[in-house]
Amino acid sequence: MNVQVKDLHFEPFISHHSIQARVVELANRLTVDYHGKNPIFLSVLNGSFMFTSDLMKSFLAPCEISFIKLASYEGTESTGDVKTLIGLNHSITNRPVIIIEDIVDTGTTVKKILELVWQHQPESVKIMTLLFKPEALKENIEIDYVGFDIDNKFVVGYGLDYDGYGRNLNQIYVVK
Ligand code: IMP
Repeated sequence: MNVQVKDLHFEPFISHHSIQARVVELANRLTVDYHGKNPIFLSVLNGSFMFTSDLMKSFLAPCEISFIKLASYEGTESTGDVKTLIGLNHSITNRPVIIIEDIVDTGTTVKKILELVWQHQPESVKIMTLLFKPEALKENIEIDYVGFDIDNKFVVGYGLDYDGYGRNLNQIYVVK
């Protein structure tokens, strides 16, 4: 069924069933790759809350999960686009880190997060994203785990928003 989010119309794109099946596959791969390694997952808010929740339910090894956000620097100086990571309460030094993203579009966000995370001297950093738009990628970054490669079109649902709305939809919709 089509949905309207604010002024835009969307049609079903990736079903709840397909998402669930793919998420379990990804979690199984992570379980193999990180068994015995004591990883820490850094879930990037707000968009990846639903993906992270489902992914972690099928990850079957000891791990920690933390939620982070990329925010503009809030200091006394107006420093333009200086970004900071908020919410990183765990020590990630010498730990394997997996960043969990909802979507990688131009790659700017994830590149910035990578730079900030590496400052804490983790053992390794891998990127997991549910959705990836290869045509939109502008940064020279490698995405280690991808749920679905998608066309360069605007999507909502399953955590992804359009102007703050649509995150609660349990499947992914594409703009018409
Ligand atoms: P990037 O920095 O260009 O890779 O974009 C990252 C952010 O843009 C994501 O974390 C999303 O918040 C947002 N974004 C990019 N494409 C979409 C989309 O199709 N739907 C909803 N949000 C998107």
